[in-house]
Amino acid sequence: MTLVAGALCVSAHGAGIAAAGELRYDRDIRPILSDNCFRCHGTDAKSRKAKLRLDVREVAVEKEAIVPGKPDESEMIYRLTTTNADDQMPPLAMHKTVTPAQIDVLRRWIAAGAKYEPHWSYAPLKRPALPPVADPKWTQGAIDTFILARLEDSKIAPSPAADRRTLLRRLSLDLTGLPPTPEEVESFVKDNSPDAYAKQVERLLASPHWCRS
Ligand code: HEC
Repeated sequence: MTLVAGALCVSAHGAGIAAAGELRYDRDIRPILSDNCFRCHGTDAKSRKAKLRLDVREVAVEKEAIVPGKPDESEMIYRLTTTNADDQMPPLAMHKTVTPAQIDVLRRWIAAGAKYEPHWSYAPLKRPALPPVADPKWTQGAIDTFILARLEDSKIAPSPAADRRTLLRRLSLDLTGLPPTPEEVESFVKDNSPDAYAKQVERLLASPHWCRS
C-alpha cells in the first residue's frame, strides 16, 4: 500500500504535443530538442559540437540553425530532413529518431518566429485565458474548461459523472492510497448536503495517511 500511495503522489508532467494551436517552447519544443539534440548542442560545453547551442536562441540564430520565420532556410530543418547520412541530425550513431510529426512541430514553431521561453518552473505565474468550449454547462470550474477543450478537440465526449461510491473510492486512493471503509462510503452516500464532497476532501486531507510529498 505504501508503494501505491507513493506512486499516486508523483505528479505526471505529460509532454504531449499540441496537435493544433499555438506552439510553446517549453511544452512542445524543448522536450524534442532535449531528447535528441542537447547532448551535443546544449549547456555542457565539454560535449558541445560545432560550437552550436540549441538551448540558447541567440546562438542558434547566429549559426543559422534557426532562421526565425523561415524553416526552409533553417539548418536545423535541413539536418532533420536530409537523406545525406553525413549531414543527418541527430547523428545516425545515436540511434534516435525525430518523428515526422515532431519535425512538423519544429517547422511550425520556426515559421511562427521560434520564440523561446524560460523553463516553466522559472517563469512567472500567469493566468491563461479560458479556451472556448461547445458545452460550457458541463464545466464546474476553470480546470474543467481546459479538460473539456482538449476532449472536444479530440472529439471525445466526457464520461458520465461517477456514482458516490466510485467517487469516494477514487478520492481516498488518490489522497491516502487507501480505499474508504464501508462506513465512510455509507456516510458519504447518505450525505445530501451540497458540500458533501468537499467535506470528504477535508476529512482525507486531515488523515495521517494523506500523502504530502
Ligand atoms: C551525438 C552528438 C550530436 C547530437 C545528439 C546532435 N548533433 Fe548536431 N552536430 C554534431 C556534430 C559533431 C556536428 C558537426 C559536424 C556536422 O556539421 O555534421 C553537428 C552539427 C550540427 C549543425 C550544423 C552546425 C553548423 O554550424 O554547421 C546543426 C544545425 C545541428 N548539428 C543540429 C542538430 C539538431 C537539430 C540535433 C537534434 C535533432 C542535433 N544536431 C543533434 C553532433 C550532434
